[in-house]
Amino acid sequence: MCDQSPDRRRGFVFPGEAMEETARVEKQLQALEAWVLLAIEGAEEPEAVEQIRIRVLGRKGELTEILRGLGAFPPEIRREVGQQANTLKTRIEAALGKRQQVLRVALLEGLAFREAIDITLPGRPIARGSLHPLTATLYEIIEVFQHLGFSVAEGPEVELDYYNFEALNIPKDHPARDMQDTFYVTDDVLLRTHTSPVQIRVMETQPPPVKIVAPGRVYRRDADPTHSPMFHQVEGLLVDHGVSFADLKGTLQAFVDQFFGTGTRVRFRPSFFPFTEPSAEVDIACVMCKGAGCRVCKGSGFLEILGAGMVDPEVFRMVGYDPEITGFAFGLGVERIAMLRYGIDDIRLFFENDLRFLQQFPTL
Ligand code: DAH
Repeated sequence: MCDQSPDRRRGFVFPGEAMEETARVEKQLQALEAWVLLAIEGAEEPEAVEQIRIRVLGRKGELTEILRGLGAFPPEIRREVGQQANTLKTRIEAALGKRQQVLRVALLEGLAFREAIDITLPGRPIARGSLHPLTATLYEIIEVFQHLGFSVAEGPEVELDYYNFEALNIPKDHPARDMQDTFYVTDDVLLRTHTSPVQIRVMETQPPPVKIVAPGRVYRRDADPTHSPMFHQVEGLLVDHGVSFADLKGTLQAFVDQFFGTGTRVRFRPSFFPFTEPSAEVDIACVMCKGAGCRVCKGSGFLEILGAGMVDPEVFRMVGYDPEITGFAFGLGVERIAMLRYGIDDIRLFFENDLRFLQQFPTL
């Protein structure tokens, strides 16, 4: 439409054509005014308002083109029509600005309403973790022995056959190896089946006296409600001149008193371990029935918690100690003790990481 106008064709308007051209432009301005102000009022989004502005006042906008075309008009006509066009432009600009402002306020009010924060609501508590019941039990056991003067030693979980068996007086074809279903890595390397190899490692590196506990993970091919292929032990070793079985009994009774309550009865049963002589298995009075006999202790009134004994002179010889030296050793099962303490009847609960289980030990 604009392309057909005289200014486009020739660059200016002859006076004879002026009346006609003026009327044409005035009509264009009226037509523009007729829709644009209503459209601005009806725009629901800031983006829609902006679209109208571009369509009318942009570089190629309708009103921009009209104003540009006026350059070709004779001056007196240009002044009159130009004034009309500029007045309309001012009104359109005002309407655009006002509409944008109204929409902006509405947007903010909507936001304020939707995103309102009620600061009087109580906060959501942050869930705090706690120690795993086994870790807590392990720490507690260690602490009792530390108070009795033991220090803490550690050894590798991937161990040599030599430390796990040989140096503990369990040679290759010894039947005691059957007691411990071993995970082998190679012929000579295995996952330790107990913490006893730490005894050897400690004695190899330091002369008597020795007074250590060695906590850690151990591994056996075994899995049922009371056996896990990975479990924890705390090893104890005391070596000095003149150590007797009475020292062993006194030490273990002191531990049981501390851990299970003063006066908890302790029972020693003769047993066999290749690295101790004599050897014993140690029971405590059943935590459920206090010795009367129940389902948990299978009517015996007692529960086994550890193995112990006087260190076999053969072991002292293996580490280069004088075989005349004396000492006692013990090894206790951490899961076993935690199960007794908390009345847990399935060892697998410790390793399933079910929060419903773990959250029952919040203060530990
Ligand atoms: N190592 C033994 C086991 O895992 C437990 C044990 C028994 C450790 C007697 C000892 C001990 O230190 O003297 O079954």
